[in-house]
Order: sequence, then structure tokens, then C-alpha cells
Amino acid sequence: MGDPRLWQKAQPVVHFNTPELLALITDMEETMLSLDGAGLAAPQIGVNLRVIIFGFEHNPRYPEADDVPYTVLLNPEITPLSDEIEEALEGCLSVPGLRGSVPRWQRLRYKGFDPQGKLIDRSVEGFHARVVQHECDHLDGILYPMRIQDMHTFGYTDALAGEAG
Ligand code: NI
Repeated sequence: MGDPRLWQKAQPVVHFNTPELLALITDMEETMLSLDGAGLAAPQIGVNLRVIIFGFEHNPRYPEADDVPYTVLLNPEITPLSDEIEEALEGCLSVPGLRGSVPRWQRLRYKGFDPQGKLIDRSVEGFHARVVQHECDHLDGILYPMRIQDMHTFGYTDALAGEAG
């Protein structure tokens, strides 16, 4: 957080299935896995393209969350499927050590493309919907602290969990 590359609006992917694109995705996968992330967006590793990855089974950073299928999504678009908003704590690999409560659409449909250019079209809810919204925000230069409504919910992970120190 603070790096101006995180505030930019990322550019759409035009050419699918290129060696450069596949290398970027591999780099993102390794970064996300090494940091136990639930998702990652290309601007977080300094690449200004509309590429996000997300998904996990039993993520230690989100032990309560349901599994989300591993997905690579290019040029994503989100449409809310109801007015329902849900508040929950989020973290971000670009904002290490902190958490905050963020309001998100509870149900949504997302569309985009896989690395080969094949359409992905899913309707999801809960944590899956939350992760997609968080990662898509990165493509528009938005970090989750900018969406926190009650700043009392923003703090160090240990302090929010009620741990001493
Ligand atoms: Ni993030």
C-alpha cells in the first residue's frame, strides 16, 4: 500500500494464451501460494493488466471460509444478483498484518475469460463473491481500506482476534 501502481486502472488483456501471459500467471500463482493468499491481482506484482487469480482449500488466513475453486480470470465483470450487503473482515497481501470489515455484495454473477480465452460465467455468493469483488477492486485501483465504513474495525490481525500484545 502506497505504491502508486496500486492506484491505477489496469488495462484489458487483448492477446490470450501468449507465453508472456502464461508466465505472468505462473508468477502470480507462486506469489499467492507462498503468502497463503486467497487471491491476487496482477497490479499487486506491478503488472498493469486485468488479470486476477483466486481460490483455495482451507486457507489458514481465512479458516472459517468455504473452499473456493482455483480460478484464473481475465477481464472480469461483476453484476450483483441482489441488494443484500454483507460485512466481513478482509485482509490483503498488499496491506500485510492488517484486517478490516468491508461491505460487499452477498450474491453476484461474474464473467471473464480463462488464459486460453474461454468464457467463464458463474453465479456465486458468500466468501467466493467477496474474494472476486476484492480482486476486481485491485484492477480499478481500490484497496479494501478505502471501502471500510467503520474504522474501528480496521486493525492488526492479532489485536482484532483479541490476542494479547
Ligand atoms: Ni488484495
